[in-house]
Amino acid sequence: MEDNKSESLEGRQTEFGPEDGMLVLDSVTKRFGGLTAVDDLSFAVQEEEILGFIGPNGAGKSTTFNCVTGRFPPTEGTVYYKGKDVTGSTAYGMVKKGLARTFQEFRPLEDRTVVKNVALALMPDKMFSMQGLSGETQRKAEQICERVGLGDRKHMLPDELPHAGLLRLELGRALATDPDMLLVDEPFAGLSGPEVESVSDLLLELRDEGLTLVVVDHNMRGLLSLIDRAIVIQFGSMIAAGPPEDIKNDPVVQEAYLGGDEL
Ligand SMILES: Nc1ncnc2c1ncn2[C@@H]1O[C@H](COP(=O)(O)OP(=O)(O)O)[C@@H](O)[C@H]1O
Ligand SMILES: [Mg+2]
Repeated sequence: MEDNKSESLEGRQTEFGPEDGMLVLDSVTKRFGGLTAVDDLSFAVQEEEILGFIGPNGAGKSTTFNCVTGRFPPTEGTVYYKGKDVTGSTAYGMVKKGLARTFQEFRPLEDRTVVKNVALALMPDKMFSMQGLSGETQRKAEQICERVGLGDRKHMLPDELPHAGLLRLELGRALATDPDMLLVDEPFAGLSGPEVESVSDLLLELRDEGLTLVVVDHNMRGLLSLIDRAIVIQFGSMIAAGPPEDIKNDPVVQEAYLGGDEL
């Protein structure tokens, strides 16, 4: 694949160390048996940027973030977060260090209200009390519901929410862990145009409040006005990197999408 890389990668930094960004991947590889899902991937995420992490379905986007967020360790390579080697940390360990994520296939607890689902994420160490929530936990959970635009729906059950509402709940559950960096996996799947816009506005507000964001998506739709920079992967390898307008017109990127998803 070496000759199939975009000009945008020419002269690019290939060796990364702990000081190169808030989150740094250095030669991360993940194999599942004979399949190399992530192939020698290196990049850095800078504080308070919104990075778009893009690639066709099956490119290895979610696997990359599973390696970073402690779902499973990379087969090879190193992950640094806030200057420390965190390779192989547990998912809970990464949350405690300030790295939160949303899942592409998220499942809230269907028998708990929206606000209780958020409250549960506030207290990962504690068993949920059937007697109800403490005043402070309740207040914090309600604030987060307001923050993600679910203030008037906090007493609903998850299955009463539209899909965009479920995504907001998933964002609320991630924010409940008080993160410094948030990885959002395919937030726009299944959302209408106006919903994409209002979720984008929420993500921009969160960045303005100091959060660093990585937004994963299989296409550029909805991302152009949101992200500062994009990294595009295919078959687990980086094929392009740069400002979103350049990426969109990049022939190597367009080729990667030929016959498949829209860019
Ligand atoms: N847990 C797993 N076990 C085996 N193969 C997997 C696993 N997770 C992902 N894969 C494979 O790794 C490749 C990348 O998948 P994924 O990271 O989910 O892609 P994306 O998120 O970019 O759509 C795919 O071929 C997928 O089938
Ligand atoms: Mg995925």
